[in-house]
Amino acid sequence: MERHFNTKEELRAYLNFHSSEKSVGFVPTMGALHQGHISLLKRAFAENDLVVSSIFVNPTQFNNQEDLINYPSTLENDLKLIREISKDIVVFTPSVQEMYQENVQSKNYDFEGIDLHLEGLDRPGHFDGVGTIVEELLRIVSPDKAYFGEKDFQQLLIVKSLVKQLQLPIEIISCPIVRESNGLAMSSRNSRLTETQRDRAVFIYDSLVLAIELAKNHSPQQLKELIENRFAKEGDFDLKYFEIACVDNFIPVTEFIKNKHYRFLIAVVFHDVRLIDNIGYTHLEIN
Ligand code: PAF
Repeated sequence: MERHFNTKEELRAYLNFHSSEKSVGFVPTMGALHQGHISLLKRAFAENDLVVSSIFVNPTQFNNQEDLINYPSTLENDLKLIREISKDIVVFTPSVQEMYQENVQSKNYDFEGIDLHLEGLDRPGHFDGVGTIVEELLRIVSPDKAYFGEKDFQQLLIVKSLVKQLQLPIEIISCPIVRESNGLAMSSRNSRLTETQRDRAVFIYDSLVLAIELAKNHSPQQLKELIENRFAKEGDFDLKYFEIACVDNFIPVTEFIKNKHYRFLIAVVFHDVRLIDNIGYTHLEIN
């Protein structure tokens, strides 16, 4: 049976009583659930005895107040979607007061340099906010496994670094991006776009696919120029970055090395909505 808690104390008490001898999977979310979240929840159910999911729009990870105010909130629908997967789930929906009391502030973390590029540069303070809330949630739930989507690939590496540094005995499971049939990466923010805009936003994914196709014969710098020019020709996209980062340290690269794994990443603002996407690439040929 579904259990729904708003306070840390109630959730802890329930888990203390019910989770001994059981494996616990945790899916943290900010709500406005879509098929990407559903895939995380299904995987958590497949791999654990007990599944906990949180819905909490974390203010400290928004460096832009307007973005926070406009972040979609669809709690009733979220709960309905969750119940459709399984009624046997623990849902945690705390208030900001419950999570932060009077001190709505981030802690400061050293994320081994992973936070110094891309989203970290474009959204100052974002990853400290993510670290603060993820640490708190992981400490409350104490799961065996926690599930994060690869759409926020840098976040995934940040969370892995956090768990390693804090020596939390939690396995971080990365789950593939779920896409619309046209290729657009599923995101809660897509709900702020019209259907026509969502069709148009596929330009982001198409640009990543193009860059991957050309990667065999082009350097990262050439690809960067090509994609930046491609976006510059389209008036409705404000390209924040196109970068190619090595998955080991997430530093943007200037050359490809054979057999190394990379991530091609894009962030844009499109009709006031910030969208990100990425694709993996392994360089098998030498230029
Ligand atoms: O990816 C998200 O939805 C959020 O960044 C997370 C991990 C739930 C922390 O607020």
